[in-house]
Amino acid sequence: MKIVLLPGDGIGPEVTEEARKTLEAVIPGLSFEEHAIGGIAIDTTGKPLPDATIHACKSADAVLLGAVGGPKWDDPNAKVRPEQGLLGLRRALDLFANLRPVKVFPALAELSPLRLERIEGVDILFVRELTSGIYFGEPRFRETNGGVTRAVDTLSYTDGEIRRVVQLAFRLSRGRRKRVTSVDKANVLESSRLWRSVANEVSKDFPDVALEHHLVDSCAMRLITHAKQFDVVVAENMFGDILTDEAAVLAGSIGLLPSASLGEGKNGVYEPIHGSAPDIAGKGLANPIGTILSAAMLARHSLGNEEAAVRIERAVERVITDGARTADLGGKLSTSQMASRVREAL
Ligand code: NAD
Ligand code: IPM
Ligand code: MN
Repeated sequence: MKIVLLPGDGIGPEVTEEARKTLEAVIPGLSFEEHAIGGIAIDTTGKPLPDATIHACKSADAVLLGAVGGPKWDDPNAKVRPEQGLLGLRRALDLFANLRPVKVFPALAELSPLRLERIEGVDILFVRELTSGIYFGEPRFRETNGGVTRAVDTLSYTDGEIRRVVQLAFRLSRGRRKRVTSVDKANVLESSRLWRSVANEVSKDFPDVALEHHLVDSCAMRLITHAKQFDVVVAENMFGDILTDEAAVLAGSIGLLPSASLGEGKNGVYEPIHGSAPDIAGKGLANPIGTILSAAMLARHSLGNEEAAVRIERAVERVITDGARTADLGGKLSTSQMASRVREAL
């Protein structure tokens, strides 16, 4: 099995290195190949997603990614940005579904700013559409006319793009509590009205699964007030991006949350939901758990190795229960110390 590693920028290299070691500890004989993406790729090749990286990812069994971006490449007038590398990769591999599970570890419940009874037992699977919507819609441009500068982004969805991700959400809910929440802004947006009607159509094929629709603004509120009621939440690209960072508050730190980006085949991109965290990069302070749990998702979804996935997840649970804490969790362990604890538990 060949795994492409894309460490990227900021804390990306620190956390991917630990996730790689974790995978190696659980599954002997994997081969890893490292490639450039993001800011570092811009610096070395001029492109955020070099051709060699795309080719390697396309022929891999799975891709493990750290994070891209940082202040060095943040000029709002820049022609190329690190984030284009990530978006281009998701598109090149047609990874239309981004799975972002959010679970609250009982031992960390006190870290949340929310009251214990609101977050105990929270277990949500976000399914975020990843290759369409306002992130990719055309036209997209900036123009200046008569002294007025205007910028345009386009939010576009086809019925097929909505159907495939909603169907996946329904299928996944069957292995869980059989409740799907579809998020939209159907009171305002045409694309959301299409989203809602496709979700209703899809639900007819899943009579055993309950479907509810939530407007995104009220959903953002209910995630805080009624988090336990959510099972599978399916949302368009940008709504899903925003809601999952919000949901990280339930878990206690964004450094804990993994993700899997999947398409029709077995190959996928696995990455923590956090970014390159420039404020703590290079200091050994990053929490590696989100990336280690992403490696578990890689084992499950791309390698078909459920046993390895569960072993990694149990080891993480064990060390968290035993009190292992990086700085974001109020502790003193470094990135590598935290990851070593996980490997010892394995
Ligand atoms: P961020 O997620 O990088 O950081 C937000 C906050 O969370 C920071 O205080 C950071 O220190 C903290 N944090 C994040 N990950 C952590 C970890 N593993 N352990 C401990 N603390 C952690 O978001 P941002 O600051 O808005 O973005 C920084 C850069 O990252 C931007 O360039 C952005 O575009 C990029 N970004 C990349 C990805 C990705 O590659 N998938 C995701 C989000 C943001
Ligand atoms: C994420 C990130 C990316 C996104 C950015 C860096 C392009 O925020 O993976 O959640 O918005 O998808
Ligand atoms: Mn995000």
